[in-house]
Amino acid sequence: MKKARIIGTGSYRPEKVLTNFDLEKMVDTNNEWITARTGIKERRIAADHEMTSDLAVNAARKALEMAETKPEEIDLVIVGTITGDYPWPSTACLVQDKLGAVNAAAWDVSAACSGFVYALASATQYLESGHSKKALVIGAEVLSRIIDWEDRNTCILFGDGAGAVVLEAQEGEQGVLSTHLHSDGSYWELLYQPGFGARHPASVSGIEQRLPFLRMAGNEVFKVAVRSLYDVAIEALDANQMTAKDVDLLFPHQANRRILDAVKKRLKLNDDQMYVNVDMCGNTSGASIPLALDEANRNGQLNEGDVLLFDAFGGGFTWGAALVRW
Ligand code: ACO
Repeated sequence: MKKARIIGTGSYRPEKVLTNFDLEKMVDTNNEWITARTGIKERRIAADHEMTSDLAVNAARKALEMAETKPEEIDLVIVGTITGDYPWPSTACLVQDKLGAVNAAAWDVSAACSGFVYALASATQYLESGHSKKALVIGAEVLSRIIDWEDRNTCILFGDGAGAVVLEAQEGEQGVLSTHLHSDGSYWELLYQPGFGARHPASVSGIEQRLPFLRMAGNEVFKVAVRSLYDVAIEALDANQMTAKDVDLLFPHQANRRILDAVKKRLKLNDDQMYVNVDMCGNTSGASIPLALDEANRNGQLNEGDVLLFDAFGGGFTWGAALVRW
């Protein structure tokens, strides 16, 4: 059976930097608190004219260039996002249009911070089954537009960005070895955006109640996140008769440093087995794993044959892992 092999990566971070010191001027917080509790020092914020599809296209163009692939060769575009340009059409359709990927089917996946792993798992099925030959999988978010900048509990955590991979169906040892997806909708209320959808249609009173902004029960999210990230990582390793020692580089969803350290400790990984860039990016939800992957790839940190583990957790709750031979 052919495997889904990553043949190009790309990423994009908006230019504007928002530091912890900038946040000190906006809400009652301080750099020490944010650094100690989250490890985040700065995050990027999209310019007013930049939409999620723009970030996605910037990342995708770099991935296509690395993959030496023309947009019209792509037959599948999947975007993991919860901050699409519009409720509909999908951001994937907008990306398809901007790129000129005229031969692709395109759709979004809504799995919050697990969006990229969910999208990657979906594309893998199409590539392995022969329904697709070359796919573009993107995680892209402009979370700054759904953040309540008056809520110090949440506004310190998130940032904007995008990451993309081009995948090709290929024979051989390299590619996605397995994917593992889970959800538990009974936790939906711990991390969600109340408005404006069908339950709370747009209204002035809804704005007064701050319904369009992300809500989160941070402590409870933390506990389930650590457990789920660990469990699904072990599930992926077991499925491939591997242990954590076999992992060359773990790419966890960059939620915050304490979650990552707790997962690293439970998996008994060394520091150099886990990629971390949350300090400079914040939590970019669906974009965080492909953004980190592209950074590591362009830094020359990935070697042919390496075992990479993508490990994600997010609203829904959703969580998932993908084991990849580079
Ligand atoms: N600056 C200063 N003080 C603050 C801030 C802030 N930005 N935010 C909260 N505090 C205060 C609280 O009001 C509270 O004060 P009190 O004791 O007087 O009531 C105190 O700090 C402790 O608050 P906690 O919420 O208990 O702080 P905690 O140690 O849990 O840290 C945090 C909060 C960082 C949000 C943590 O719960 C966490 O990391 N949760 C995971 C959430 C997450 O990563 N979500 C991302 C989305 S899900 C995902 O991506 C996987």
